[in-house]
Amino acid sequence: MPATAPIHFTVFPDDCDSYGHLNQASAVRLFERARWAALAAGPGMDAFTRNGVWPAVRKSTVEYRAQAFPGDELRVTLELTHHGHTSFTMRQTAARVGDGTLIAEAEFVFVCVDAADRPAPVPAEISRFFGARPSMRPGETQELPVRGTSLAVDVLGDGDPVLFVHGFPLDRTIWRPMAATLTGRRRIAPDLRGFGRSAPPDGECTLSTYADDLAALLEALGAGRAVVCGHSMGGYIAFEMLRRHRDRVRALVLVNTRAVPDDDEARAARDAMIARVRRDGPGAIVDDLLPRLLAPATRETQPHVVEQVRRAIIGGSGEGVAQALAAMRDRPDSRELLDGIDLPVLVIAGRDDAIVPAAESRAMAAAIPGAHLAMVPDAGHLAPLEQPVNTSRLVGEFLDALA
Ligand code: MLT
Repeated sequence: MPATAPIHFTVFPDDCDSYGHLNQASAVRLFERARWAALAAGPGMDAFTRNGVWPAVRKSTVEYRAQAFPGDELRVTLELTHHGHTSFTMRQTAARVGDGTLIAEAEFVFVCVDAADRPAPVPAEISRFFGARPSMRPGETQELPVRGTSLAVDVLGDGDPVLFVHGFPLDRTIWRPMAATLTGRRRIAPDLRGFGRSAPPDGECTLSTYADDLAALLEALGAGRAVVCGHSMGGYIAFEMLRRHRDRVRALVLVNTRAVPDDDEARAARDAMIARVRRDGPGAIVDDLLPRLLAPATRETQPHVVEQVRRAIIGGSGEGVAQALAAMRDRPDSRELLDGIDLPVLVIAGRDDAIVPAAESRAMAAAIPGAHLAMVPDAGHLAPLEQPVNTSRLVGEFLDALA
């Protein structure tokens, strides 16, 4: 039978034993997490309970093949190998993305039981899902033609759309921890033009270029109005969407971002960075940016986050990064928009943000009628990655309140 699309995980230190390699119990947990993530991205995590059954594990077999360590990215596959009336069997593997090493393989036999603990038929929507309808493949990055370019986008789940707009010089993967938990909504996370797997720009970009791309992307996905969740430069773009595509914006989540434009000093710094990136590529700015993007605590205790950010920066195209710097340098003053925003707004700030100081976020939230400010402890400029659980909970509560 066909397999569903693989799920990716980073190994965290708390997944490991005292020798620093993946603990056997954590491997079982990762396999289970992959199954729920697959459901979350497809029919929903409640696909069993809403059909009145629960999948009880009757048998599990795991073969441990190799060690994995904190920071390793694992690719976990799922394949339905047997489908009976009340039971089904799944084969799963976990392999390291970097070198393809098989870390573990497993087989799980499930029996669906009802509330009285009696075997019950496997729900048809579960069977259909694990039969892998192409439109529901979880975690699959699509490449969509939009306004003469190609944008890479992850689309997960169904429900009210939430558009996640990454900051500079990152990509859609900063939203993965959040997108995995905010189930029950259609989570749309694109790479902006020139970043990640989207095509490099073929001309000058301004904030309106990105805002128009995103409006066209929502149109292409049939997504109507979305809650726009913008991180830093993504927040600048969210303001631009308010200016140009107000009808597409249902509510705003403004994460580690500001309304104030660049002053002369900041503009000069952008010019210097543009010259450097054009000369030496995005790798040349990694060491300057990392200490500003991440809180000291993150740099000391979360090497996998440092590595993910480093990889995202290096992965952008030089011209994409240079164009984004110019777009940010020339961005308009968005303070004039703030008191006219008549949408629900959540402002999220990192207490240790070295780029957008917490006081600036506080002032921005205070200027938007009815906006709520949430301060995330132990987070720098990248709260969604540095404190994913806390940040996702804040966004989840905001989205629940909207619904
Ligand atoms: C970002 O994270 O998008 C940038 O740091 C924003 C900026 O440089 O103004």
